[in-house]
Amino acid sequence: MPTAPSPLAYIPFVSVENMMRFVHHFGIEKILVELTDAIEADYRRWDRFEKIPRLASHSRDGVIELMPTSDGEAFSFKYVNGHPSNTAKGFQTVAAFGLLARVDTGYPLMLTEMTLLTALRTAATSAMVARHLAPGNAKVMAMIGNGAQAEFQALAMKAVVGIEEVRLYDIDASATAKAARNLGDSGLRVVSCTSAQDAIEGAQIITTCTADKAYATILTDNMVGSGVHINAIGGDCPGKTELHKDILSRAVTFVEFEPQTRIEGEIQQMDASYPVTEFWRVLSGDAEGRSDARQITLFDSVGFATEDFSALRYIYSKLQGTDFFQQIDILADPDDPRDLFGMLQRAA
Ligand SMILES: NC(=O)c1ccc[n+]([C@@H]2O[C@H](COP(=O)([O-])OP(=O)(O)OC[C@H]3O[C@@H](n4cnc5c(N)ncnc54)[C@H](O)[C@@H]3O)[C@@H](O)[C@H]2O)c1
Repeated sequence: MPTAPSPLAYIPFVSVENMMRFVHHFGIEKILVELTDAIEADYRRWDRFEKIPRLASHSRDGVIELMPTSDGEAFSFKYVNGHPSNTAKGFQTVAAFGLLARVDTGYPLMLTEMTLLTALRTAATSAMVARHLAPGNAKVMAMIGNGAQAEFQALAMKAVVGIEEVRLYDIDASATAKAARNLGDSGLRVVSCTSAQDAIEGAQIITTCTADKAYATILTDNMVGSGVHINAIGGDCPGKTELHKDILSRAVTFVEFEPQTRIEGEIQQMDASYPVTEFWRVLSGDAEGRSDARQITLFDSVGFATEDFSALRYIYSKLQGTDFFQQIDILADPDDPRDLFGMLQRAA
């Protein structure tokens, strides 16, 4: 008779269903605010993290990436894809799951869905950066690209930065209609626009979040006035960008982890001498953020492993005392650690 797995074999698994219950239980805006603070707290101890550009497996249709990091006590990785042509086939552009583990034993601590969690953490990261770099008293944001990430982005900018109006634009009007419907009860003033130019009218924060495996030009230089913060999150892969390079020439550019962004971000269009500031240096006081009201600040976001680490640790800490998880016996744990074969044999 197979024996029941030992307590060491089990870890919490957060399914998509449980992640949704979790978000509704605590409230999405509260989670976005707390997640923003958790991500920022880890950016403030940047030196503690092991950092490498993510490992990417490219194919004609998209990319599959592994994103590992560790602070010496915990280790995490995320598996995530990016397939812009997926939505036309009924699949999502981005889907993910991830794992948190102990460094001392190497044993996993938690396995979770991360498709929803990526949308939350990407929005929280955008809001974290915007609250330090956007012009003071920003109330209006443009949201260009109204796909899976869009509503999360708008809600984080509302909850963390105090945005009151979101101006939506997508080349596909049905995506804009979907986002406007979903944000109907959010407390935001929602304006549906018919061009990117119209969407950025009066906006102090411009978010681009489109998906196309191409050097796209969502914004051209003549469209962008002074005194705005651009939150460019859709260009996140070699050969996949959103901004005309002339905008980069005028902007002061902030990145997550420079070696990864040079490969994947908007700045892949610029030569290696193009100056960028890693955002953690603004938090530590080593570098200046926005220095005057007329500047164009650009957050060239690609998504970095520490943000997922922070999100995983945040979820793990909030799981205690809840039932938003199942226990799964992910680890073979023989009574005698060296008798793995005996454990298998006794299960026959
Ligand atoms: N930086 C990060 O941390 C991060 C995290 C998650 C996703 N992303 C990236 O963000 C992008 C969007 O992700 P998603 O999950 O919302 O994708 P999605 O496919 O659900 O939505 C993308 C939307 O962009 C629209 N679009 C495409 N070209 C456009 C154009 N020229 N003008 C206006 N709209 C256009 C599409 O119609 C679609 O509605 C992807 O490229 C993804 O890789 C980045």
